[in-house]
Amino acid sequence: MVKICCIGAGYVGGPTMAVIALKCPSIEVAVVDISVPRITAWNSDQLPIYEPGLEDVVKECRGRNLFFSTDVEKHVREADIVFVSVNTPTKTRGLGAGKAADLTYWESAARMIADVSKSDKIVVEKSTVPVKTAEAIEKILTHNSKGINFQILSNPEFLAEGTAIEDLFKPDRVLIGGRETPGGQKAIQALKDVYAQWVPEDRILTTNLWSAELSKLAANAFLAQRISSVNAMSALCEATGANVSQVAYAVGKDSRIGPKFLNASVGFGGSCFQKDILNLVYICECNGLPEVAEYWKQVIKINDYQKTRFVNRVVASMFNTVSGKKVAVLGFAFKKDTGDTRETPAIDVCKGLLGDKAKLSIYDPQVNEDQIQRDLSMNKFDWDHPLHLQPMSPTTVKQVSVVWDAYTATKDAHAVCILTEWDEFKTLDYQKIYDNMQKPAFIFDGRNVVDLEKLREIGFIVYSIGKPLDAWLKDMPLSLNCITWLEWLCSDIKYIS
Ligand code: NAD
Ligand code: UDX
Repeated sequence: MVKICCIGAGYVGGPTMAVIALKCPSIEVAVVDISVPRITAWNSDQLPIYEPGLEDVVKECRGRNLFFSTDVEKHVREADIVFVSVNTPTKTRGLGAGKAADLTYWESAARMIADVSKSDKIVVEKSTVPVKTAEAIEKILTHNSKGINFQILSNPEFLAEGTAIEDLFKPDRVLIGGRETPGGQKAIQALKDVYAQWVPEDRILTTNLWSAELSKLAANAFLAQRISSVNAMSALCEATGANVSQVAYAVGKDSRIGPKFLNASVGFGGSCFQKDILNLVYICECNGLPEVAEYWKQVIKINDYQKTRFVNRVVASMFNTVSGKKVAVLGFAFKKDTGDTRETPAIDVCKGLLGDKAKLSIYDPQVNEDQIQRDLSMNKFDWDHPLHLQPMSPTTVKQVSVVWDAYTATKDAHAVCILTEWDEFKTLDYQKIYDNMQKPAFIFDGRNVVDLEKLREIGFIVYSIGKPLDAWLKDMPLSLNCITWLEWLCSDIKYIS
């Protein structure tokens, strides 16, 4: 029986390994982690991450050929294939701080593999890493190998949260990069055999190591670039009276462009896009390509601009101040169908509003108060570290309350900000919400989920990203001196020069 071990039981390691176990009953899969609470949760009825369909898959395989454990060394020692799916955060200090990937966790995993191994192994990079990481990992493994043969493969993961199980069941492609040597090719074939149990052969792509590593960074950069492109257009739409949904639809009808990933928003979030682009920027700079670095930097600059623009719009519309006003925030996760808040635009928007002394009442169907308080008091980039290294008892942000339904959040509020596109926000009783709010009642829709005309008929003043402005908003132009909250926000670390 082939044995697989995956180091890192997070958003990638957990679902990916659960699907491998489901589709390959003859393979034994152990998912290991240094975080005891995470492994305890994987072994309980309350899984550590919310992902549609995940629970069914785990329930079917757990205890059969899928195991979650903190005994990292034992499972690594016994495995034929070791996936490494640990955090690769942005460095917060030292060389490359604010851009380069911090490979501390990866390096320590590699050293541990070398230390405990007693038989040949295939080591698979599942984490997103800078191009050429495999070379460094190879050096660590071979210098400590005691004669054991290690083959390194790059097998980046392309799942998106909220649709992870669907994506894993039917991936657009599986990418495997390896050395162009007989040993490398044999290792590629071994991993190909695993995926071939359910993925059609023509969707399993094989490349050299560096192409696989770089393709992952490139794919995320391209995806984020589409969002920044449509968000840049949304600003122009508001200035001209065009409607961004109509523009995106017309543009996406061109089969060369395609309709996906053209939804204007308050900005992209999530653990990957910003981190991976910063990493790409750093690699370009290190390779003497400042023009290329500058090009990709713009994707993040527009994303920051979009969040700043949203906060400024809220403040400017409400007589240039939200001080002491109750603002209801609907949605805190970085997208719908996940409880994940890593790099969610809601953090930056909330911090911007708090900077102008608003009182926030936040509701998200999947995010609890502890998480929201931790996110709002954490420094930039501190989130992407193993749980036990994150602050356990963060300081509470007093102007923030977290509630468990949208009607409580919006009661007596001056304004509502919609920051995640949860389906339930489309069907709320907005008449009831209006009746219970202060007047004039404002809605700022950062995800284009509400019916603008209906809400205007009720009496709301409504702002929706990239949609034609009503008379009120036109009369309240964004003032340049509104707030420079982004500067304040990033004062702990200058991540973009
Ligand atoms: P995560 O934080 O959810 O999980 C990583 C886990 O690794 C944590 O539970 C941590 O405790 C554990 N860990 C760290 N060092 C360890 C060690 N030495 N030994 C054992 N366990 C250790 O992160 P994630 O979202 O699963 O991402 C993992 C990697 O996959 C990152 O490189 C990320 O960029 C990449 N990725 C993420 C996604 C996504 O949607 N989240 C998608 C594609 C790729
Ligand atoms: C992304 C990539 O899609 C995935 O392939 C990769 O493996 C990990 O990074 P993820 O971050 O989980 O996945 O979600 P994604 O659906 O890409 O959304 C990222 C952010 O962009 C979210 O905040 C989402 O709301 C936003 N977004 C997405 C938009 O603002 N507009 C869009 O049209 C699409």
